[in-house]
Order: sequence, then structure tokens, then C-alpha cells
Amino acid sequence: MEAGGKVVVLTGAGISAESGVPTFRDADGLWEGHRVEDVATPEAYAHQPHVVHRFYDARRAALTTVEPNPAHHALARLEEVLGDDLLVVTQNVDDLHERAGSLRVHHMHGHLRSAWCQSCGARTVWHDDLAHGPACPSCGEPALRPDIVWFGEIPHGMDLIEEALAEATLFVSIGTSSMVYPAAGFVRAARLLGARTLELNLDRSAASSVFDETRHGPASLLVPAWVEELLAASRA
Ligand code: OAD
Repeated sequence: MEAGGKVVVLTGAGISAESGVPTFRDADGLWEGHRVEDVATPEAYAHQPHVVHRFYDARRAALTTVEPNPAHHALARLEEVLGDDLLVVTQNVDDLHERAGSLRVHHMHGHLRSAWCQSCGARTVWHDDLAHGPACPSCGEPALRPDIVWFGEIPHGMDLIEEALAEATLFVSIGTSSMVYPAAGFVRAARLLGARTLELNLDRSAASSVFDETRHGPASLLVPAWVEELLAASRA
């Protein structure tokens, strides 16, 4: 693996799986136990806000029981060396990248530990439940929703991501099934824009055939090994 240039890493639920955060589409995944349209759409929130709140309150509470794993730590170590030459774009709404020490993380699908006021638009760091209708700290209205990008909504910061992909010399996808767009299309965009592309995933994803290289295995092993390889190449 060659050194130098800018690196964009896209992460998905698979990187947090070994920390104990459930994925979506695996046999024991969240979408096996819940219908997407019941909990992860603006329509569900409009019709059954308590059901949606309970789903995300449970996931937010579960964050207190999990810790970053060696894959998150390896990306934080890589950022210590690459600095601004590394951007982690995550589809995950957990905070495990940050807790491992990563600073340059873009949460394109929102964040469990953020609440978004539907009255004044303020976003507030949030650690507690939302189902009981707490007041927005900015305007006082009980209008806080989970700050999650639901199906049918536009992911955060697409401009920022497109700029990063345009500058990237290496695009690495970690632990995502590549079933959900626009993230699933980043590999094609990165390739067209001249980046080398690498997939690190437990098994084949919907986009495996598009990558220059695919490695299969658990993220806790694959990611530290790849980071060591990259850092060794940059020292050589
Ligand atoms: P998925 O559940 O669709 O895919 C998880 C991927 O991680 C699968 O390809 C697994 O094989 C892989 N995987 C599982 N365990 C792993 C491990 N230990 N090491 C490496 N890989 C592993 O999750 P995402 O691709 O993240 O969006 O899903 C994308 C989006 O769909 C999510 O952000 C979410 C969901 O609906 C919203 O909620 C808006």
C-alpha cells in the first residue's frame, strides 16, 4: 500500500459490531427486529413519535455499555500521524470514533448524542431520553427529535464529503454493507476521481466488485493491520 496523499475512510455498523453495537442487516441486526418504516422515517415520527423515541432512547442508553474496539483505536492512531490528511466519514450514530480519540469525524447520518429542536432548529448535545418530551435548552419548547438522518432525508455535509473524495488518493470502506445510498456510491465516485479503493469487511458487500482491493475479516483485526501497513509505508 503506497504512502502519502489524502485518505478518506468510510465506516459503517461493522466497525462497531465487535464493541457490541448491533449492525442493521446481519441476522441479529436492528432491521431484523424493527421495520425501517416504523422507526427510521419522518413519517413514522409524525405518526408515532413515542415508538421512534423509544427506539432511539434505547440505542442512546446502550452507548453507555460499549467501548471502542481496536479498529476505532487504530483509526485514531492513523489520524495522529496524518492529521488533516485523514477524514473519517461515518454512517454510524454512535460516538466510538470520538471516544477512541478521533477528532476529524463526520457523522453523515447524524448522532445519537445530539437532539434537534423542531421549533427553533438548535442542536444540543444530549445524553438522556427524549420520549418524555424534555424542553429544548435554547427555546424551551418540548420539540426535540433524535438528530438522526432518516430514510428520505438528506445526509449531512454532502459538499464536504464530495470535496474530500475529490482530493483523496485513497478511499477505504470499513464495515458497511454498501446497501444505502449515497454512501454506497462513494467508492465509485472516489475511483472516478482517481483514488485507489480498499474495502475491509467481514464478508462481501454489495459493492465489493467495485473496489481495487477487498479484504475479508473482522474489523478489529483488519483495520489495525492495514493502519500498521500504511504507517510502515509512510516511514519507509
Ligand atoms: P449494515 O448492517 O447494513 O452492514 C454492516 C456490514 O458490516 C455488513 O456488510 C457486515 O458483513 C459487516 N460486519 C459485521 N460485523 C463486522 C465486523 N466485526 N468487522 C467488519 N465488518 C463487519 O450496516 P451499514 O452498512 O452501516 O442508516 O448500514 C448503512 C446504513 O443503513 C446505516 O447507517 C443506517 C442503516 O439503515 C440509517 O439509519 C439512516
